[in-house]
Amino acid sequence: MKGETILQNEYINKCKEEREKLEKKLSRPVTFHVTTFGCQMNARDSEKLSGILEAAGYVKKEEEDADVVILNTCTVRENANQKVYGRLGYLKTKKEKNPEMKIMLCGCMMQEPSVIEKIMESYRFVDLVFGTFNLYRFAELLYKSQTHKGLLIEIEKEDQTIVEDLPTDRKYKFKSGVNIMFGCNNFCSYCIVPYVRGREKSRTSEDIIDEVKKLAEDGVMEVMLLGQNVNSYGKGLDEDISFAELLRKVCDVPGIERVRFMTSHPKDLSDELIDVMAENEKICRHLHLPLQSGSDEILKRMNRHYTKEDYLKLVEKIRAKVPGIAITTDIIVGFPGETEEDFLETMDVCEKVRFDSAFTFIYSKRTGTPAASYEDQVPEDVIKDRFDRLLALVQRCGRERAEEWTNETLPVLFEDINRQDENLVTGRLSNNSVVHVKGDESLIGKILPVRLTECRGFYYMGEIA
Ligand code: SAH
Ligand code: SF4
Ligand code: F3S
Repeated sequence: MKGETILQNEYINKCKEEREKLEKKLSRPVTFHVTTFGCQMNARDSEKLSGILEAAGYVKKEEEDADVVILNTCTVRENANQKVYGRLGYLKTKKEKNPEMKIMLCGCMMQEPSVIEKIMESYRFVDLVFGTFNLYRFAELLYKSQTHKGLLIEIEKEDQTIVEDLPTDRKYKFKSGVNIMFGCNNFCSYCIVPYVRGREKSRTSEDIIDEVKKLAEDGVMEVMLLGQNVNSYGKGLDEDISFAELLRKVCDVPGIERVRFMTSHPKDLSDELIDVMAENEKICRHLHLPLQSGSDEILKRMNRHYTKEDYLKLVEKIRAKVPGIAITTDIIVGFPGETEEDFLETMDVCEKVRFDSAFTFIYSKRTGTPAASYEDQVPEDVIKDRFDRLLALVQRCGRERAEEWTNETLPVLFEDINRQDENLVTGRLSNNSVVHVKGDESLIGKILPVRLTECRGFYYMGEIA
């Protein structure tokens, strides 16, 4: 799709001209702000939007009251949705004070027709709405919005187009996400993602490696390969390539020191992948392996295609081949029909696996998914009680697991000055744990050995060794 890249770059130039006109009128720089509500893929999309705005000469502003404000939404759970409406209320008051302000909405929530109806009815002060399938046309949409007054809505249904080589901005100089695939084919019965992100499609390995090379030349040491189910990478491409082979190629790019990936579906995790992880130190000692439930019956109704036993065996195999690896997970509590016995199966998996950390979610009914119409929804108080018990267990395991590394000396990639205490610099271990060390900005972007002097629950205090 080279033609599309050329076209969008032409639009960036047009956007620049419009921005210059506005800058003259306002006698100050024209600013933008992008807020991300969703997952890493959503965050990567935000970097693409920022990249285009920066290429058009807009200046990034930390506060949300910029001249162009974009809310990049998520709809995986109802509370992600609610937050967006809350922000819109706040932005309305800002817009009343700044008539040049443009409010834009994009991301997964916008692929839901009911959301669009609600915006058309109650949020007409919004300027531009676009979805997940036309994000690559953002320069064109921005230009349209610059030259148009009133609400503009551009949503597309499923689109298989992948457009390469558009500008991106990076939150960190030394690390970056890299999309390796888009969409999802799994249709877990509770999940909205396949409906709002479309069918799975992989980027070619050549495009991915080209991007990683460019990132490495630009100072990136750590890449996070992104997809809803990275283990099925490569399906549908003309080339014959597996995710494990892609990982090997990424590790071979000069300058790349750390490689992460997200997310792995247990049903597709191959022995080949475990072997590649075992043999290649650059691949971080962390695997995020969503369990969702420990009950075979619930897993079946979730359409997950593995059993409790499969999951436990998989974890055992990984730990045997990749010692020291951190395994983290996602768990849903209160899926329709979940009985106390089902829930105890989930608790049992947590006891047995002892996850390094776990994201626990209360089941959220997503209209349009099969589970939304299941009749046996679990009462709220029962869910709350289970959720609390599960949280206590996973937190205890997480703390115990973290404690085991105290006094070890391990490499840390330093990322940020600590927000609470400016004398501390925060970094991450290969296993994704957070470490704080006394130091200054000069450490940022460096990988140095650190002795973990104290474990404080989920993070460590350390000293450079
Ligand atoms: N592709 C990833 C997950 C993407 S969504 C995977 O398959 O593992 C991230 C997490 O949100 C999921 O792992 C799941 O635990 C949670 N989630 C998804 N839909 C949900 C829903 N309807 N209610 C509650 N949690 C949900
Ligand atoms: Fe949703 Fe399942 Fe796809 Fe993950 S694999 S995005 S949970 S449908
Ligand atoms: Fe949310 Fe979309 Fe990601 S629904 S979790 S932002 S793919």
